[in-house]
Amino acid sequence: MTEKGEEQLTHIFKKHRGERNGLIPVLLEIQKELGYLPKEAMRKVAEFLGMKPTDVWGVATFFNQFRLTPLGRNHVKVCMGTACHLAGGRSVLEALERELSIRVGETSADGHFSIERVACIGCCMLAPVTVIKDKIYPKMSPFKVEESLVPYRQEE
Ligand code: FES
Repeated sequence: MTEKGEEQLTHIFKKHRGERNGLIPVLLEIQKELGYLPKEAMRKVAEFLGMKPTDVWGVATFFNQFRLTPLGRNHVKVCMGTACHLAGGRSVLEALERELSIRVGETSADGHFSIERVACIGCCMLAPVTVIKDKIYPKMSPFKVEESLVPYRQEE
């Protein structure tokens, strides 16, 4: 972990000192600051809370809002809010997983792409919606997936 990451952890631990049931808030804050939960950070969380590292790991892997790998340089968010789900968000997500050969929550081995499932992003009229590197792709379909990835693949 970087020196900056160490400092962020120290700050988070200070903030949560003495809290009972602090595991989830601590993990959420680490993820917010570092973008994911590095193994080293989880080991330190276990030390800080007086828990077994395997128990911290168990919680981090149980809840799918926790990421165990860094985000890809091109982070793909697939909206799975109600409107997007009903409009076919699931099939868009599956097409992206096939096209990128990674599952939701994963990052490609080269660090180029990652996929995340998100709740409503506030533009339901455009459902189903996908966001790639902060650009919104409205009215997505599995047939538009390959084309939508072209500009990002060219950056490789
Ligand atoms: S449900 Fe997808 S933008 Fe609202």
